[in-house]
Amino acid sequence: MRIGVLGTGNMAQALATHWVRAGHEVVIGGRDAHKAERLATRMGGGARPAGLRAAAESGQVVLAALPFGAGADVARELREALAGKVLLDCSNPLGPGFRLLTEGGPSAARRLAEAAPGAHVVKAFNLCHEDVWRMRPPVFDGRPLAVPVCGDDEAALVRVGELVRDVGCEPVAGGGLDRAGLLEATAALFIALWVAEGADAQAIAPPLAYAAGPGHGGEAGGAAAHG
Ligand SMILES: NC(=O)c1ccc[n+]([C@@H]2O[C@H](COP(=O)([O-])OP(=O)(O)OC[C@H]3O[C@@H](n4cnc5c(N)ncnc54)[C@H](OP(=O)(O)O)[C@@H]3O)[C@@H](O)[C@H]2O)c1
Repeated sequence: MRIGVLGTGNMAQALATHWVRAGHEVVIGGRDAHKAERLATRMGGGARPAGLRAAAESGQVVLAALPFGAGADVARELREALAGKVLLDCSNPLGPGFRLLTEGGPSAARRLAEAAPGAHVVKAFNLCHEDVWRMRPPVFDGRPLAVPVCGDDEAALVRVGELVRDVGCEPVAGGGLDRAGLLEATAALFIALWVAEGADAQAIAPPLAYAAGPGHGGEAGGAAAHG
């Protein structure tokens, strides 16, 4: 697959390193040519440095590894180059106090879609810290990390599912792009639990067999819940 990366920071490095290793053709696009050059060299595997526009033009999938505040402006600027492409959004629109900056308005993913209307925006990879994405692979208690993916275009979801597997994770269908805001809100909740409370966010959900009560594959949970 040809992958363009917008940004030369932590998420660009963490995710694109897996994709280079998986044999994809990766172009690292930065507004700072030196940073793009440095990251591409560090990755090796044929990764090439470029400007933002050239990276967008090169990719069948384009990862927006940009701060929330910059994403929509960059996508608007590159909208022609992004037309027909998969635009992969990993951003978290969080402000001080882990506040969701999109509260009451469109999600960050939706804002990207509005800025680049020809692109197929897919939300994924926003729920975990960069160091989790650097793991080879991210497996906990013998189970590969599950990665919820939200988007409206089937072909785009298939491509992103492949990229999730290349990171060593399992994709989980998270619904359409209208649900991307839920992933962003989940990140806001999780990060606040982890960072502010020191709480184990993984512990807040029951196992599937207990999740939906009796009649939903959850007899065990139903029995427990109802005495
Ligand atoms: N880090 C994490 O653990 C993590 C986890 C999940 C999701 N995320 C999300 O992933 C996204 C990227 O995070 P990150 O940690 O990779 O950030 P980062 O390390 O700060 O990198 C951000 C990149 O965006 C570039 N950039 C910033 N403003 C720009 C603009 N106006 N135009 C063009 N490029 C611009 C920066 O370029 P310069 O270097 O030139 O400033 C840099 O290359 C964020 O939305 C974040 O919420 C991060």
